Amino acid sequence: MKFKDKWALVTGGSRGIGKGICIGLAKEGCNIVVNYVGNKKAADETVAELKALGVNAEAAQANVGKRDEVDRMMDSITSEHSLDILISNAGVVDMESFLEITPKAWDYQLETNLLGAFNIGQAMARYFVKSKISGKVAFVTSFNQEVPNGSQGVYSITKSGVKMLAKVMALELAEHGINVNTIAAGAVITDINRKQVEMFPGLIDRLNKIIPLHRWGTVEDMANAAVYLCSSDSDYVTGSTIFVEGGIMINNGMMINVVDE
Ligand SMILES: NC(=O)c1ccc[n+]([C@@H]2O[C@H](COP(=O)([O-])OP(=O)(O)OC[C@H]3O[C@@H](n4cnc5c(N)ncnc54)[C@H](OP(=O)(O)O)[C@@H]3O)[C@@H](O)[C@H]2O)c1
Repeated sequence: MKFKDKWALVTGGSRGIGKGICIGLAKEGCNIVVNYVGNKKAADETVAELKALGVNAEAAQANVGKRDEVDRMMDSITSEHSLDILISNAGVVDMESFLEITPKAWDYQLETNLLGAFNIGQAMARYFVKSKISGKVAFVTSFNQEVPNGSQGVYSITKSGVKMLAKVMALELAEHGINVNTIAAGAVITDINRKQVEMFPGLIDRLNKIIPLHRWGTVEDMANAAVYLCSSDSDYVTGSTIFVEGGIMINNGMMINVVDE
């Protein structure tokens, strides 16, 4: 058990990748706080699944994009027990071509993905330093932290910003024994892209061809990276990114030709 008696806060832990990470950490004995913004039912279901694995678990509502809500959540959690791990995973995406990006779509994605990551990242860092806890922080970004996704420009910009946020934190927090890294996820079918997959039924096969490992990612793939980055196995890793994307970034457009032959 890598995380016996430890507590992790997972933002956006109620569904999708965040939920998968909650389960992966809990299987290694970690107690979990499942943050959510609006879907209490999903959060409660995740908490029940985690408790069935034999760990302590609780739900905590807060919009990570609102500093006062993050502070309220942190005060409430840490008045009951300590925290050792932060997985900053909450995220949203809008589809719009660059010429059609609206200020509203910009603000929505920036507030949740980038300001939200900063809010929880700084609140947790302050808590770790004050409590003298050598904590671990992992931000769930995307391979779009490096390369843009068509019609997901704002989203790609937010993920690129979170990559630099993690590096800034890693640099300044190293002296406090705090490690900060990112998990750059590839394509995983969750609620965030379900509409897109339904609208473009060929998308699943197309990505299966383009991705060198010929499959979409799973929440378990992301959880494996989170377990590594939150355990002592990664004590000498900070300011870094693990790409969990099946090799999509090394394709360079070549793979589809090979497969089609
Ligand atoms: N799925 C992919 O292909 C993919 C690829 C690369 C990166 N990612 C990244 O992985 C992360 C998780 O995505 P997902 O696919 O698991 O999405 P998802 O299934 O839509 O889940 C999103 C989660 O984020 C929470 N959330 C949304 N806005 C929030 C806010 N303002 N404050 C707190 N929580 C908030 C949701 O809470 P509620 O349940 O309360 O709504 C939910 O738990 C995101 O950062 C996303 O960008 C996903």
